[in-house]
Amino acid sequence: MMTQQNLDNFKQKKKIFIRTFGCQMNEYDSNRIYDTVKKIGYEKTENYEEANCYLLNTCHIRDKAKEKVYHEIGRVKKKFRSKSKPLVIVAGCVAQAEHEEMLKREPFIDLVLGPQAYHKINDTILKHQVKKEKWEETDFDAISKFKYLSKIKNQKSKISSFLTIQEGCDKFCHFCVVPYTRGPEYSRPFDQIINETKELVNNGTKEIILLGQNVNAYNFENYKLSNLIYELEKISEIKRIRYTTSHPKDMTDDLINVYKNSKKLMPLVHLPVQSGSDKILDLMNRKHSIKTYLEIFNRLKKINSNIKFSSDFIIAYPGEDENDFEDTIKLIDEIEFINSFSFIFSPRPGTVAAKLPLIDRKKSLERLEVVQQKLFNNQIKLNKKLENSTINVLVENRTDDKSKLFGRSEYMTSVLFSGSDDLIGKVVKVKINNSNQNTLFGEAIKKINQKVA
Ligand code: SAM
Ligand code: SF4
Ligand code: F3S
Repeated sequence: MMTQQNLDNFKQKKKIFIRTFGCQMNEYDSNRIYDTVKKIGYEKTENYEEANCYLLNTCHIRDKAKEKVYHEIGRVKKKFRSKSKPLVIVAGCVAQAEHEEMLKREPFIDLVLGPQAYHKINDTILKHQVKKEKWEETDFDAISKFKYLSKIKNQKSKISSFLTIQEGCDKFCHFCVVPYTRGPEYSRPFDQIINETKELVNNGTKEIILLGQNVNAYNFENYKLSNLIYELEKISEIKRIRYTTSHPKDMTDDLINVYKNSKKLMPLVHLPVQSGSDKILDLMNRKHSIKTYLEIFNRLKKINSNIKFSSDFIIAYPGEDENDFEDTIKLIDEIEFINSFSFIFSPRPGTVAAKLPLIDRKKSLERLEVVQQKLFNNQIKLNKKLENSTINVLVENRTDDKSKLFGRSEYMTSVLFSGSDDLIGKVVKVKINNSNQNTLFGEAIKKINQKVA
């Protein structure tokens, strides 16, 4: 444990640079790591060359994730050749997958920290400073992590804030590393989440995005995601609630019904389907069919016809033939997904699908192109439809060049528009004049939340 004297010695001007890859949960983790290392005197810098601690928060989901990390560390090493070496920490899912191997392969790395070990970061840094030993911490210990983090204020002050409520996965889709890098499913205590939301609200948050690798599997002593949404909705400062990422199997009746009753839950449902073919879903071990997926879609549409779906797609999964691919296209046409992610299957070490024969690269790229074009067209179509209409926008900040306000529509689309700074943090009505694939452009016409400070 850290003694007061150790802490005092250490609390000089220390600068940490944090680079984050991967999902929103990594982004949340990076912020919480910063909240933690602040306690031992670190300040954040955006310029890695002036840092005395360089932390890389890594993602292992696709491609040559591991090689990218070594490449990045190599780049940093070069920059620091003629300066004193920073403390180099590799965190995140590659750290979890590779653990001490990283220390052996790249001596420039000092500490390796898995995603469930961030609560140990300060002690680990101090131990390293005192003993000059390399260290790795990759135990799965979500309970201790969140217990520790709940005592450290979440100091992020953003209009829209992430909040991790669930970690890990027990589903073991054959393509996915998450069950190995994040460990088993764990749900944070209900009260911890409410308290952290209140901290965020005190810092100005108006939109909460609840996170988990399987966020809709959240279950803490029988409190489910639906209960959490109802509870958060009672906080008057919270204007919008979203959650991501969900699994179709956990789209239970109670959660579907929240869309009937909630005024703050946004009408964009991000529900990864991966493929439109039951044969492929089966090969992937997805544990849901297209029929059940469509049932969820139709039930939600019946509750609110404005609800739209976004999704994740894996293209060219081993065994995907032309018919399977056509089924995916058919599903995209039927559901008219917006705002979706699509990637070619990437074999991940240690997963069941790691060694399956790959589909020809050219064919895979062609299929990806077709899917992405469809998804882009849906987005363009949706945005075009909104031209000359008035939509609700939560205003987040001003653009870097200060010329426009930036906010998001209910469907997460970026909106740029003219208006005064006092609109930041409010939900305002914006008249949309034109659009492109990713952005809507317009002008504020009227505040609709006059009371919001
Ligand atoms: N839990 C969510 C679900 O059940 O769909 C997904 C979470 S995962 C972190 C995010 C996305 O990464 C997946 O939806 C999938 O599309 C993509 N992904 C995961 N493994 C992949 C792989 N081996 N190759 C390509 N994409 C992958
Ligand atoms: Fe990965 Fe999601 Fe499947 Fe879990 S449910 S293994 S996180 S894709
Ligand atoms: Fe990547 Fe780990 Fe998130 S593998 S997508 S950072 S859970």
